[in-house]
Amino acid sequence: MYRIGIGHDTHRLEPGNGLWLGGVKIPHSQSAVGHSDADVLLHAITDAILGAAALGDIGELFPDDDPENKDRSSSSMLAIARDHVWNASWTIVNMDCIIFAQKPKILPHREVIRQHISELLALDIDQVWLKAKTGEAVGPIGEEQAIAAECIVLLETQAAFNKT
Ligand code: CDP
Ligand code: ZN
Repeated sequence: MYRIGIGHDTHRLEPGNGLWLGGVKIPHSQSAVGHSDADVLLHAITDAILGAAALGDIGELFPDDDPENKDRSSSSMLAIARDHVWNASWTIVNMDCIIFAQKPKILPHREVIRQHISELLALDIDQVWLKAKTGEAVGPIGEEQAIAAECIVLLETQAAFNKT
């Protein structure tokens, strides 16, 4: 049995010392603002796997008014979500992700990001794909006020379901 999931996330950008994307710190003149490390890509992936398994969403598992979640690494949040998904007998078949950012260029960092995500989720690197798009210099993405990410994931289970 298969289930598909989707995740989307946006964070505001401010002058700063780099961006956490997919668990990797990318050098940049801006940073994303958020309660955690504001890693839009890992937040989108976390929501995609939780959604596919019908196990809630990132804000439910890690409320941003809980001081325990302040500055929590997004890799640790994804690891907890991954454990919930595994405990429910789901395994990840593949995921396809998009980062929406005018700058910086993501392509030179793609392989290290894919490597980090695939290790965290115990996947082969070819089960994780990543691409990036600019905002064509218009709107909040194009004007470098925001960064966003999306992820689509496919889960598989060996368990039999008899849901009507
Ligand atoms: O060419 P098109 O308008 O479809 O896309 P674009 O937004 O201009 O991006 C062109 C290419 O640049 C993408 O396919 C990515 O390979 C790369 N890119 C990137 O590496 N980092 C970004 N932040 C945006 C785009
Ligand atoms: Zn986020």
